[in-house]
Amino acid sequence: MADLLDLVRGCTFDDFLFTPQHGVVERREPTLIDLTSRFSFGLALKRPIVSANMDTVTRSEMAIAVAEEGGLGIIDRGFRSGEIEPQVREVQIVKRKQHGIIGDPYTIGPDASLTEAEARMRATGVGTLVVVDERRRVQGLLTTRDLRFANGAGTVASRMTPRERLTVHTGELEPARAEELMRTHKIKKLPLLNADGTLRGLITAKDLIVQRQLPSATRDSQGRLRVGAAIGATGDYLERAAELLRAEVDVIVIDIAHGHSVVMARAIEAFRKRFGDVQLVAGNVATADGVRFLLERGVDGIKVGIGPGGGCTTRLNTNYGVPQVQALVECRAAADGRVPLIADGGVRRHGAFVQALTFGGDTVMLGGMLAGTAETPGETVQKPVVLPDSNRTVHVPFKVFRGMASLQAIVDRLDVEDAEAADVEALGAEGMEVSVPARGSVRPLLRDLIKHLCSAISYSGAGSLAAMQEMFRKHPDRYVIKLSESGRRESFER
Ligand code: XMP
Repeated sequence: MADLLDLVRGCTFDDFLFTPQHGVVERREPTLIDLTSRFSFGLALKRPIVSANMDTVTRSEMAIAVAEEGGLGIIDRGFRSGEIEPQVREVQIVKRKQHGIIGDPYTIGPDASLTEAEARMRATGVGTLVVVDERRRVQGLLTTRDLRFANGAGTVASRMTPRERLTVHTGELEPARAEELMRTHKIKKLPLLNADGTLRGLITAKDLIVQRQLPSATRDSQGRLRVGAAIGATGDYLERAAELLRAEVDVIVIDIAHGHSVVMARAIEAFRKRFGDVQLVAGNVATADGVRFLLERGVDGIKVGIGPGGGCTTRLNTNYGVPQVQALVECRAAADGRVPLIADGGVRRHGAFVQALTFGGDTVMLGGMLAGTAETPGETVQKPVVLPDSNRTVHVPFKVFRGMASLQAIVDRLDVEDAEAADVEALGAEGMEVSVPARGSVRPLLRDLIKHLCSAISYSGAGSLAAMQEMFRKHPDRYVIKLSESGRRESFER
């Protein structure tokens, strides 16, 4: 490993190619090749893709798309200090998007009026209410169909399908068994009960179908999509974490520019003291010392990358940072499989995604690569662009992509609109804002990325992502070609 460390010092993605090996993959099909990886100790992904916690990249829409495609989205903390609720809402939207078992279905009492039932269905957007008594024992089911022609007159009890005519299940139930029960009994809703007859949950046929259509999606034990959320290391961060955890976020990421710091040490200690062993990822670091520092403090995952990001000017402004391939190799050696690493930043082409996973990342966090897609937050604006050939001006749709430490992002977070211009200039920005062409959905892009990863696995001579990583780490000399300037041009300039 010492040789590899020497070889990659000062280098990043575009400095290397990998030597093709004897391939063993019959078909480069994502359904046939195991791409499982770990984002953190307790959180496995079927696809090693993470969308960055940036306010122009990941809010609920992106987090849903990425989780449905097998990865994970981390909701940014780019909301103003003290404004915790908007971030929590984004987490809730993701958690409510898909269900296996609905753990907290909407309910109504048998004596409520049908007008009340109608209002409740309208307010919650659901077409089924479980009817429960005051002790939460299931009395029946009321659906929109039961309300037809009733004109609001009468009570819920008069129209519901009563308990004795319902098919129910007592205790836990696997989705496959639920599907079988629903098919046999020709039902679309299956209430789950506890032994004492109280409501435990609800399974719907629609949810089960969605689950089958998206077999790689990242789900929790109840079949809901998984999502992460970022917090800082000072200010309202513990309060924010408490609210996010209440909304059942799956992992918290303490994300600060310099993760190997006293601020981070204090934050992790306070976090663990208050929240125990919930999944906690921390970063960013880019050195072996940084990894050991976080590992000793008991984190479940480490984010690696100081300054490679597309919207980032840290290296320009401070001259600190580590070229990302060097950082990944160094951090991998220090982590030695004891904690999953997230390769964060600098991945601008699909081949670099493969390199990030090969040199050290268990998963890869993407910002700029996803920028401008339909699922990113923010307005699309039409900008005039002059065509070089004809000198004609056309209007092209653009979206904003910006570093989280850019002046614009800091200003939005800090509520400093009224501050003197000079004060704002002195905020010490380490990021920039750029316009990127607006594109279609992120989903084809993610699938393309995964297909290219499968092809890379084939070239590597392995049969799975884990095998590719292991083979590389055993014999990096068989793979790594350090490029000359002309080799680099031949490889990457098109
Ligand atoms: P890519 O290259 O995928 O990188 O766009 C995404 C990562 O960049 C980091 N990031 C920043 N780094 N100043 C920085 O030094 C910034 O303003 C900034 N904004 C984002 C972050 O780690 C993200 O995941």
